[in-house]
Amino acid sequence: MDTRELGTVADVGIVGFGAWQIGSAWGEVSEADALNALNTAVEEGVTFVDTADVYGDGRSERLVGRLLKDHPHLTVATKMGRRMAQDPAHYNSGNFRAWNDDSRRNLGVDTVDLVQLHCPPSAVIDTDAVFDDLDAMVSEGRMRAYGVSVETCDQALAAIARPNVASVQIILNAFRHKPLERVLPAAKASGTGIIVRVPLASGLLSGKYTAASRFGEDDHRNFNRQGEAFDKGETFSGVDFETGLEAVERLRPLVPEGATLAQFALRWILDQDGVSVVIPGARNGDQARANAAAARLAPLDAKTHEQVREVYDELIRPQVHHLW
Ligand SMILES: NC(=O)c1ccc[n+]([C@@H]2O[C@H](COP(=O)([O-])OP(=O)(O)OC[C@H]3O[C@@H](n4cnc5c(N)ncnc54)[C@H](OP(=O)(O)O)[C@@H]3O)[C@@H](O)[C@H]2O)c1
Repeated sequence: MDTRELGTVADVGIVGFGAWQIGSAWGEVSEADALNALNTAVEEGVTFVDTADVYGDGRSERLVGRLLKDHPHLTVATKMGRRMAQDPAHYNSGNFRAWNDDSRRNLGVDTVDLVQLHCPPSAVIDTDAVFDDLDAMVSEGRMRAYGVSVETCDQALAAIARPNVASVQIILNAFRHKPLERVLPAAKASGTGIIVRVPLASGLLSGKYTAASRFGEDDHRNFNRQGEAFDKGETFSGVDFETGLEAVERLRPLVPEGATLAQFALRWILDQDGVSVVIPGARNGDQARANAAAARLAPLDAKTHEQVREVYDELIRPQVHHLW
């Protein structure tokens, strides 16, 4: 698999693995399926895994830790900061160290490759003391580098402006174009890595759902459609389900022969200048294999990019562009 520099963290395969599915909030994923998904991804050349302390209350981190034992060459990013209410007062050195101790135990490492603040309030990104603490934790050997996972482009720009932020994680996909305007150019100029999450708009961009599709009670695509549990933008990328289905039908004819719509959607992201790694989530080995194979697709041509832009402008932009 081709690699790109992820800030100062490491060179990583351009398609990584998002490990939220193997933690919680996506319906039942058995341990066997989870381990199969992880191992298949690695067999197919994936070298970067994104997890978080809260995914299944450590389940995702522990599974990734088991993978790491057999494949110590992998680069693993975790996140911290959502074990408590999103109150800036909770982002303090004591909590940081306690959360980091849990992650290191779960992952089975002394030093985590990358620790990301997990979508903190803007006030946290604007607080110097937070970054002094994170710098100290790097010096203590608790982590090699740190980054920030953000909701909005303004938060991304504030994080990029911090000198030692190695990476920013943000939503960017065929249904979310705003980061192309200022975030990607700023990250490129400063050498900040860009980790792209929700690349398939929670599966919408796989093209496999219909108006009749239903999601389980323990699946955020059921319980968070209006942002009831966390930011609405994390579910279907903030796009109304029916509008998403309509847009998908407009994208389907653009898919190159031999590729799937999901692979096309991943390639569209990889074509954007400034992206380091895309992290599709997978619930089984088949999905992990298909996603990794997107790294082998040729870049899309300019006309195709223009057509994706038209679909976005006509159907999606009015719903989401002003929000994040
Ligand atoms: N705040 C944060 O920092 C944050 C928030 C969200 C996500 N993330 C990270 O980003 C990762 C990716 O985002 P995401 O998981 O939210 O959304 P996503 O990658 O856009 O969508 C994942 C879903 O797409 C479907 N899918 C995946 N591969 C497929 C394939 N090859 N063919 C058909 N369908 C496929 C699956 O749906 P089914 O389940 O229906 O099969 C899967 O659950 C997460 O795992 C997590 O690591 C971070």
